[in-house]
This record gives sequence, C-alpha cells and structure tokens, in this order.
Amino acid sequence: MAILEVKNLKAYYDEVQILWGVNFKVEKGSLTTILGPNGAGKTTTLKAIMGLLDKVEGEIIFEGENIKNLPPYKRVERGLVLVPEGRMIFPELTVLENLEIGAYTSKARKFAKKNLEHVFELFPRLKERIHQKAGTLSGGEQQMLAIGRGIMACPKLLILDEPSLGLAPKLVLSIFEIIKKLKEEGITLLLVEQNVHLALNIADYGYILENGKIVDEGDAKKLENDPKVLEAYLGI
Ligand SMILES: Nc1ncnc2c1ncn2[C@@H]1O[C@H](COP(=O)(O)OP(=O)(O)O)[C@@H](O)[C@H]1O
Ligand SMILES: [Mg+2]
Repeated sequence: MAILEVKNLKAYYDEVQILWGVNFKVEKGSLTTILGPNGAGKTTTLKAIMGLLDKVEGEIIFEGENIKNLPPYKRVERGLVLVPEGRMIFPELTVLENLEIGAYTSKARKFAKKNLEHVFELFPRLKERIHQKAGTLSGGEQQMLAIGRGIMACPKLLILDEPSLGLAPKLVLSIFEIIKKLKEEGITLLLVEQNVHLALNIADYGYILENGKIVDEGDAKKLENDPKVLEAYLGI
C-alpha cells in the first residue's frame, strides 16, 4: 500500500512553472528515491509535499487522504516529516535543544524520551556532544542532528533532501549506513539525492526527475543498469 501518492503535481514560483505534472508513489515500509541533477525540481517537489509553497496544483494523497490544502504543521502532525536540504539546524542552540524542537507536536512530545534514546542509539556522537552548540558541530554531525530532529517528530514518512550534500566521502558512507539502518527498522523513507549509485544501492524503487518531470522510474536494481540513467549521470 502506498503511504504517499503524488498525482499530477505542478508548482510555480510567482508565474514561473517549475513542476510539470509530477507523479510518484512511496510504498509503506519502502525506501524510495528521487534522483535528478541540480535544478531539476527535487527540493521544490518536497516543499510542495510539505505545504511550503504558495502555488501548487495536483493531488498529494497521504494515507489515503488528499492533504494538499492542509497547513504545513498539520502535515507534520500526521507524520510527514522533512529533513531539509542544508540541515537548517539552529547554530546557537545546543544539540539537545535542537532535538527538542523536533518534538513540537503533541504526539511527538509524548514520545520525546523514547525518541531521544533512539536518536542517541543511532548517533552516539550526538550524545557525547549533547550540550555543545550545534553551530560548532562538523558538517557530518550537523546532518546527523538534522536527521535526529526528524526522528523526534515521530515520522510515518521521513523525507531526506540531499543528506550527503557537501560531506566528505567517508561521512557520506556513514550517513547512507544510517539511512539503511532506519529502513531496516521499518521507517518509510523518501530520499532525494544526486548521489545516484549510493542511493540506488540502498533504495527499493527510484524515480528520475529532470526539468520538473519524471522521465524514468523502476526498481532500484533495474534503474542502476538503465541506459537513460547511465547516459544522464555517467556520460556513457
Ligand atoms: N524560491 C525560488 N524562487 C524562484 N525560483 C526558484 C526558487 N527556488 C528554486 N527555484 C528554481 O526552481 C528550479 C528547481 O529548483 P530546486 O527545486 O531547488 O531544484 P533541485 O532541488 O532539484 O536542485 C530551479 O530552476 C531554481 O532556480
Ligand atoms: Mg535541492
């Protein structure tokens, strides 16, 4: 069963159309990835899903209901949680304070203690730095914090916007390990990436977004050998 189904999604900044009828699904318990080059409209798609854009058309079906007209906080309350591109942590607040901010819905507050333990189990480095100001963390640690804050919100679908962006190769691998672990724990994930190989390696299903349109889709293993994907990303 699909937890999220996006149908004919169109989005605009002022009069400029960015998305041209995007369709995709995320099956419950799956790790689905949306791949595409810079400027393809990946972040715009995620912002539209979260209700962060002024002009959006189409349907956003979450757990069987069209949520297109719900305000962002109601979507978060339902379990739709975005870890944004560029982390967006609060640099002057401590690690703990940043995590607590993630638990702002009433359900999340109820589960805050349990979720915090879960975050520290996944990211022992954050536990060691619990009272450190977030702005003094390394890039990789800030990404862990951003994912941790997402977990604090009790996600039914956790959406990650380019978690590997700007990280050294070794840290990229450890972030992907964590994403794999979250999947194994049964969290449904939507992963947006430019890192095609790593994303397809851990994903079940993938979509290719180009110029605001889905141009290809398929099982991750199949997409990895797809001539269109090879051509677009490897110049073969
Ligand atoms: N706030 C904005 N105002 C106007 N245009 C924007 C804005 N944000 C993004 N865009 C444009 O929308 C297109 C898609 O951007 P984006 O969704 O960020 O792509 P991606 O995440 O795939 O790199 C780009 O051409 C970008 O310049
Ligand atoms: Mg982006």
